[in-house]
Amino acid sequence: MYDVAILGAGAAGLMCAARLNECSSLKVCVIEGNARAGAKIRISGGGKCNVTHVDVDASHYFGDANLVDEVLARFDNAALLAWLQARGCRPVLKKGRYYFCPRSAAELVEIFEKQMRGIRFFYNRTIVSARREAGNFVVETSYETFRSKRLVVATGGASFSSLGATDIGLRIAEGFGIETVPFRPALAGLTLQKDQFWMKSLSGVSLPVRISVGTKVLQEDMLFAHRGISGPAVLSASLYWEKGEIEIDFLCGRSLDALLAGGGKKLLSTALPLPRRFVRCFLDVLGIDDMPCSKIGRFERTKLEALQAYRFAPAGTFGFSKAEVSKGGVACSQLHAPSCESRRVAGLYFVGEVVDVTGELGGYNFQWAFASGRDAADAIARSQL
Ligand code: FDA
Repeated sequence: MYDVAILGAGAAGLMCAARLNECSSLKVCVIEGNARAGAKIRISGGGKCNVTHVDVDASHYFGDANLVDEVLARFDNAALLAWLQARGCRPVLKKGRYYFCPRSAAELVEIFEKQMRGIRFFYNRTIVSARREAGNFVVETSYETFRSKRLVVATGGASFSSLGATDIGLRIAEGFGIETVPFRPALAGLTLQKDQFWMKSLSGVSLPVRISVGTKVLQEDMLFAHRGISGPAVLSASLYWEKGEIEIDFLCGRSLDALLAGGGKKLLSTALPLPRRFVRCFLDVLGIDDMPCSKIGRFERTKLEALQAYRFAPAGTFGFSKAEVSKGGVACSQLHAPSCESRRVAGLYFVGEVVDVTGELGGYNFQWAFASGRDAADAIARSQL
């Protein structure tokens, strides 16, 4: 019998275990399907793990703002960076906003492994189910049965099944009668309908854009890809997109009139501060010649407005196999804040991506996973076992 069983050795489960080890003497086990911990951490951020962002608040998350605020208030980006620095890892700032591990993502997993001396890890165990029996939790795995007084579900989302992802967290919640929202791919590229297939011919071209999805506006780089559109701006936009139109401002708020006025005799493809390959292709789509700015008439001027507000409906996303995260999960309304303990089942906690909270691209999802894992650990350490 364990005091606490943690399901999943990803970011949330590892932080929860590390914190319990640090602030309690509880008997804790971590159960994981992979042969080692932190599979997603290791490959994240191109192998350098984007741990957090300079600007972290609920406005960058899709999910219940109160829960997000309360969880992050107890372990924000500054607290995470301080925690890492105290353990010899000083994340470096990139593009003035993203914090990455200085050497490799593996060093982050090593930091966690060093914090775990008192914790028992069980790898290569597929978690099959969890139930309550005589006041305790019983977890069935492919190998053996575990019993614990508290249960932390940190099994993540459903994207990247090649790294061990499953929807077991949702099934466990549903088994306890807890409301869930189906997982959907997020932080994924968007596929195109026929009218936008011209974008595929630009595969490899990247440019900064401003994308609007409903009331949400995201400014970052966009990448034209063979399958559709991708890059940081599109991945974050996919978080807020279900279906319907999005709008792309290829000029990122710059005035078209000012750009054309300053162009003089220069051709559009030279005067516009955009990749030439993109401009030529876009002009083709608009049915306009690549002409000197000084010769542009009302007809061309009207058509060129599409550069500032190109509206179209994507066909779908690149799917779970390419999505960095899953939106959906255990409904926020079912959890206490900030502990993430179930309102329905005392002693049962859901942390990390398995909760219906999903961040934009840029370190927001690790920040959420670490903060929620830690808040649950603090609540468990304070509770009477
Ligand atoms: P996580 O998925 O990390 O852990 C869940 C664990 O549970 C896994 O180890 C899994 O094997 C285990 N598990 C699941 N089902 C099981 C079962 N049935 N039996 C046994 N074990 C089971 N975020 C960010 O902030 N910055 C970044 O740079 C990136 N980069 C990035 C790149 C790529 C390619 C991906 C796929 C994702 C990212 N992310 C990211 C997202 C980030 O990785 C993700 O949000 C967190 O890992 C979520 O942490 P969790 O601990 O909640 O789940």
